[in-house]
Amino acid sequence: MRILSVVGARPQFVKLAPVSRALQEVAEHVVVHTGQHYDDLMSDVFFRDLGIPHPDVNLAIGSGAHGAQTGAMLAALEPVFEQYRPDWVLVYGDTNSTLAAAVAAVKLHLPLAHLEAGLRSFNRAMPEEHNRVLTDHAADLCLAPTAVAMQHLAEEGLAARSVLVGDVMTDVLYSVRDRVLAAPPALPWSDGESVVATIHRAENTDDPERLAAVIDALAAVDRPVRLLAHPRLRAAAERAGIVLERGAITVHDPLPYPELIAAVLQGSGVLTDSGGLQKEAYLLRRLCTTVRPETEWVETVESGWNTLVGTRLDELAAEVARPLPAEPTDHPYGDGHAAERVAAELTGR
Ligand code: UD1
Repeated sequence: MRILSVVGARPQFVKLAPVSRALQEVAEHVVVHTGQHYDDLMSDVFFRDLGIPHPDVNLAIGSGAHGAQTGAMLAALEPVFEQYRPDWVLVYGDTNSTLAAAVAAVKLHLPLAHLEAGLRSFNRAMPEEHNRVLTDHAADLCLAPTAVAMQHLAEEGLAARSVLVGDVMTDVLYSVRDRVLAAPPALPWSDGESVVATIHRAENTDDPERLAAVIDALAAVDRPVRLLAHPRLRAAAERAGIVLERGAITVHDPLPYPELIAAVLQGSGVLTDSGGLQKEAYLLRRLCTTVRPETEWVETVESGWNTLVGTRLDELAAEVARPLPAEPTDHPYGDGHAAERVAAELTGR
């Protein structure tokens, strides 16, 4: 059996790591990198640190407007799919790479599986929401991370092709956490109270007024804010003439995954608009404050470990300083063995 994974952006490399390990013994696994993310710190370092085999194909598409970027990937993927004719095309998450690969697969009548299916923000202005809705409806197999995601799929008439496998990000997080606890990597700071911050969503970066308001709110926090600057953030701030490093904020490059986990573990909380980091904070039991009006990972908010401040930036600093809630008693993101279930579903074992 031949399974072809398409990845392109940073969170997909993290999800690919446990899946590629689970598929190693049971299938031929071809990895195609669209090149959506291409910097060493945004891409190569993840393959190295997480032990992911080098991609078999790199399309080197790079950046662009949504249509141009997605279209270029679609055109470039078609001959690759023709060449490999996989038994499954496996796509991950909600990026433009996900959608391009989904469309390329269905056009060639190749069976399509979507990992991390069923997540919804119900915010149709987000590019990620278009990508995930369209991909779920194109897929032959929806691999859902949570019970809530399964419910969304059922409500959209997709129950018959949906399976709850758990969250593969839990798999990789647990193994990396154990590794960094045993041998903590060096970090660019070590004060024990810092907040790890990432801001990169178009809704926060692309409107200069919004971006200035977000940065003002981060700068007013009562403890050091370590802003790990995504290239989209740096470029948007420069265009708008906004200085990122002020008040509580110091600016750092994006961290490799093990260093990111170590930074969250040694800090006092997380401030972010990333999807993955909200969950990582929850699983590592660090307070998360999310700079968005809604989240796909509702379980983190229901438990009190995450709070949404997208529409109330004036309360951001107070939320970062809030007390810890009670220890959660359930495991909404699975048991750390989701990738094995993914492999079993795809190979029929
Ligand atoms: C993409 C995904 C988002 C995901 C995020 C993780 C879409 C629509 N969005 O957003 O869901 O959470 O990745 O990081 O697919 N850039 C670099 N170097 C890189 C990569 C990007 O400089 O290695 C710059 C590009 O020039 C571009 C900007 O970052 O201007 C944005 O890149 P893009 O691929 O459009 O989306 P992300 O914001 O990274």
